Amino acid sequence: MKVLGIETSCDETGVALYDSDRGVLAEALYSQIALHQRYGGVVPELASRDHLRKTLPLVRQVLAQAGVTGKDVQGIAYTAGPGLAGALLVGGAIARSLGMVWQVPTIGVHHMEGHLLAPLLATPAPAFPFVALLVSGGHTQLVAVAGIGEYQLLGESLDDAAGEAFDKVAKLLALPYPGGPEVAKLAELGTPGRFVFPRPMVNRPGLDFSFSGLKTFVLTTLQQHTLQGVLDAQTRADIAMAFEEAVVATLVIKCRRALQQTGLSRLVIAGGVSANRRLRAELATLVAEERAELFCPPLQYCTDNGAMIAYAGCRRLLAGQADDLAFHARPRWSLESLPPLAATSPI
Ligand code: KG4
Ligand code: ZN
Repeated sequence: MKVLGIETSCDETGVALYDSDRGVLAEALYSQIALHQRYGGVVPELASRDHLRKTLPLVRQVLAQAGVTGKDVQGIAYTAGPGLAGALLVGGAIARSLGMVWQVPTIGVHHMEGHLLAPLLATPAPAFPFVALLVSGGHTQLVAVAGIGEYQLLGESLDDAAGEAFDKVAKLLALPYPGGPEVAKLAELGTPGRFVFPRPMVNRPGLDFSFSGLKTFVLTTLQQHTLQGVLDAQTRADIAMAFEEAVVATLVIKCRRALQQTGLSRLVIAGGVSANRRLRAELATLVAEERAELFCPPLQYCTDNGAMIAYAGCRRLLAGQADDLAFHARPRWSLESLPPLAATSPI
């Protein structure tokens, strides 16, 4: 089955064509970073308007690249939530309209399910069940995954998401948006051991996270070392490094706890922060110690993309699920409320 995937939940327009027999046939991504950069973060209305401009040209580009036409598309998947309401409505409206024109089923995909299943696009793909660490700009969640749509939330962030913490600390360090990769780059120049920041919530039982205190700790350290309005370049890098180490150490401790608590031996990471090299390296050490296996999405599928939406939608369309006539965008949407693959009757 050939499924067109459309992702427009935030600041990236992602389109891909996935074939259940042959994998990803073509994909295109347009990033709005340049549009939002001068505001230091995503401006929702600008995001919606840009998705409107870019989605159809990207659909044309992807179909041409795959050497197919609309007649060859057998289903359309789009991100229905969570995300920015206006941005979701643009992608959803285009997907549903194309579905009517081409007379194929459409399906609204949960953005975090897209991320969660992205590692299944890699070889080797993880077998179920596994523990998933979802770390994006909006979410930090540990999920026990028994199958597609069989999700048990083990823990999540009580305040800022890990990616959000990276983005806010980047702002404090006067680095451009989006801050995660910039903080990571600066951290590479840091002096190991000069600063050690607290690992939030690791002494409390459970699998929840909290990153907002860490951001305050960064601010205080910055203020203490800013002399007559100047922060020296090395101290800036040392702070970036201590922050990254603290976030990664916290995530690693909770992943170890999640593996031990569930007795599972496969760990999957996904979402924008799963591109972080320190996180990948330290989780590789963790799984070696715990005799478990680590599965990471390919780098281009860590951050938002159309392929993960096409894949998640394809799995659900193949199981007989599809949209009914009602059309919702779901800016807030719980991952646990999704139906398992087997629970719905065929269309
Ligand atoms: O999954 P994603 O593309 O969008 C959301 O669904 O939120 O994640 C974006 C987040 C941003 O906060 C970005 O700063 C962060 O992922 N990010 C990183 C890295 N690459 C992206 N954070 C740390 N290290 C990275 N290398
Ligand atoms: Zn995302």
